[in-house]
Amino acid sequence: MDDKRYLTFALAKGRLADKTLSLMEEIGITCEEMKDKNTRKLIFVNEELKLKFFLSKGPDVPTYVEYGAADIGVVGKDTLMEEGRRAYEVLDLGFGKCRMCVCGPEKSKVLLQTKERIRVATKYPVVAKDYFYNEKHQTVDIIKLNGSVELGPIVGLSDVIVDIVETGSTLKENGLQVLEEICPLSARMIVNQVSMQMEGKRINDIINKMKACL
Ligand code: PRP
Repeated sequence: MDDKRYLTFALAKGRLADKTLSLMEEIGITCEEMKDKNTRKLIFVNEELKLKFFLSKGPDVPTYVEYGAADIGVVGKDTLMEEGRRAYEVLDLGFGKCRMCVCGPEKSKVLLQTKERIRVATKYPVVAKDYFYNEKHQTVDIIKLNGSVELGPIVGLSDVIVDIVETGSTLKENGLQVLEEICPLSARMIVNQVSMQMEGKRINDIINKMKACL
């Protein structure tokens, strides 16, 4: 058994990683080093189980998995839709639940109904383009932002935004609302396609144990 190769996990930094680590603990996969909030280490190893873990920015998780630098990744469905990387999506982890929505001030509602050429600010240009062009058949100008997207309609940059809504507090506190819902979102587990062929048994064992816990 000593010649087992390491299986590597890429986890999206933040809340999803914390929840994933708790779920892993439930199935007996622990990584004590990773719990140290002050560490500057980037990669953590469980020698006994031959597992490695690293944390990265969410949008980089599907990249590591597509190229095989990680065998398994845990990331939000929003990121998977936006990045469009090749990997098997094997499990809906059920946490990190939120919705991808078109949001804006009430007065923008009519611009969606009449299919005006509007400005859409978003961190998710691929998702926004797909929704407006392929689903709604509405021509729009998409403006990429990197965060605090709610500012778009407030400062007059855009008519609406496409963004994730979890509790709805950010919208509410800024006088905005959900105008249309695009799709529900949650954390997903993804697997590199070659790893699934080569290490299918170990990976499926992890997937099945996680399923049983959900
Ligand atoms: C996300 C999202 C919204 C907010 C929604 O932003 O872009 O702004 O959370 O959550 P709520 O419905 O519970 O208020 P995030 O905190 O990731 O920061 P960012 O906008 O700077 O990317």
